[in-house]
Amino acid sequence: VPDTTSHPGYDYYTAVVEQTTDYDFGLRKKDGSEFINPATGKPIRTTVWGYRTNGVKTGYLGATVDARSTLAGETGRPVMVKYVNDLRDANGRLLTKHILTVDPTLHGANMGEPEIRIVTHLHGGHVASESDGHPEAWITNDPAAQTGLPADPVSGRPARPNGNTVTYTYANDQLAEQLWYHDHAMGITRLNVYAGLAANYLLRDSHEDSLNLPKGPYELPLVIQDKSFNQDGSLHYDSNPLVAADGTQKTDSNGNPVRTSNPEFFGNTITVNGKVWPYLAVEPRKYRFRILNGSDSRFYHMWLERTDGQPIPVGAITQIGNDGGLLPDAVQIGDSQGNGLLLALAERADVIIDFSKFPAGTSITVRNDAPTPYPGGDTVSPSTTGRIMQFRITKPLVGTDTSVIPAHPRVPPVLGAPDNTRYVDLQETLDNVLVYDPNTGAIATRLKLLLNGLTFNAPVTEKPVVNTVEDWVIINDTVDTHPMHLHLVDFEVVEKGSVAPGAYTPADGAGGMPTVAPGGLRPNIEPDGVPAGPDSPYTVQPQERGQKDTVRVPPGDELLGSQGYVRIRARFDRIGTYMWHCHILAHEDHEMMRPFMVVPAP
Ligand code: C2O
Ligand code: CU
Repeated sequence: VPDTTSHPGYDYYTAVVEQTTDYDFGLRKKDGSEFINPATGKPIRTTVWGYRTNGVKTGYLGATVDARSTLAGETGRPVMVKYVNDLRDANGRLLTKHILTVDPTLHGANMGEPEIRIVTHLHGGHVASESDGHPEAWITNDPAAQTGLPADPVSGRPARPNGNTVTYTYANDQLAEQLWYHDHAMGITRLNVYAGLAANYLLRDSHEDSLNLPKGPYELPLVIQDKSFNQDGSLHYDSNPLVAADGTQKTDSNGNPVRTSNPEFFGNTITVNGKVWPYLAVEPRKYRFRILNGSDSRFYHMWLERTDGQPIPVGAITQIGNDGGLLPDAVQIGDSQGNGLLLALAERADVIIDFSKFPAGTSITVRNDAPTPYPGGDTVSPSTTGRIMQFRITKPLVGTDTSVIPAHPRVPPVLGAPDNTRYVDLQETLDNVLVYDPNTGAIATRLKLLLNGLTFNAPVTEKPVVNTVEDWVIINDTVDTHPMHLHLVDFEVVEKGSVAPGAYTPADGAGGMPTVAPGGLRPNIEPDGVPAGPDSPYTVQPQERGQKDTVRVPPGDELLGSQGYVRIRARFDRIGTYMWHCHILAHEDHEMMRPFMVVPAP
């Protein structure tokens, strides 16, 4: 519940980032009994971080902020949030060590910076640059910290505050959408989010109200994240020893062994809203689920499966929205393995499931079969990460369900022709460090993924003029799908396809942008030249219509010499510096993030 009096005109929140040492993820043995920590003899519990937002303590993750649009004709108010970094140990002492292994070889984590740094970004928010959570504008947990920096006009970094608090404002001048607030600190975003710093922010408007969707107890956010646990219940995040060419362990200036994170992280359990493989008891009626993939690197390709083996009834599951809000046309998806709902990192799906279409007592499992990494990686185990959660229709219907599933949830605003077209690319390169892999015994050079061949600190190359419409053609010269996210804007996904072999010249890594020979972009064509079928990643899917803020860029094919690409279109309507990056958190933390600057008209 917002405080509406402290700052007249605003919904005011205080979001305190704090540690909880006895969080229960609900990990149990098959017989329902607790796992026992061998060291203490007590049931395992987990140390996590979370946002205590206006006093609501969830331990892990944080309370959902409910906000309303401030566009013309709407009744909403802007939101003001005071973020407080109050990470302390169980004795009340300020934490100085992260609960997970910081990799000091990553950008932002390598310059003697404090390990305890946070900065919050409202993902999907149309937000002023100073409130956007620039990754270097972090705060530490010490109220007396003198870690501030003045603004840097060249890189566009806003001033970094001293101390342990910062106040941001969110204008809410946008359409209804599921946003989320999560940590974005340079080089440790993946660790801070994995520790728990992510929560929902639901923005509503009068159009959404008019649709009569399921609401109140029948509307639930579902935050899906994979996790691994150590025997004592603590969070496990993979890291491997950094070594010299002869295999000897490298140490930092204090003589401590240095461990580096991997190009991706995949946990071996699935959590939903901070519980491992949970179930939800439901009434035989419609429910609205606001699904968020809040994982590090894992994609989900999800469908419903009845435990009695019967098929899912027609019309039982409908997607009405994505990460840009409501869709122009609702999509029947997720009712079979062949018609699964694909959700990459940071993508959202607004889904209605009608449990009245099933016999009472039915149990329905949400399944997953997305390979890791996606799409060419390992298959998932059907009995573990192949399962997400379960719905059990065990509650009696309370009242009558008058809610509606709209066939055409929202006619989206459509941008006209672009004022400018920009080509950017995703490249896979090698880092100059060696890593020992204990699973294979191999010593290998670490992968490093780059945008335009540039690292984060290279001069800004993307400078759209304010209020112009730009097309960005994002070319993927890697073998994985990367979910690319732009701050500030919602964009249209105009087309997807592949690049004709030989037509693409990569960015040169010195500020020169990639080029594609005339006719080289082949919309709706697979890398091997055949037309893309309706479900192909090389064509825009029905659930990618309307607006989005995160888009899957399909992979290239190395042997064929073809790249995947996507063309997105956005109006850049606020002057300031923002991020664009891959939302695989392990990539974003390792240089796959760049600033862009919206500049005044010349
Ligand atoms: Cu969800 Cu720049 O992030
Ligand atoms: Cu990536």
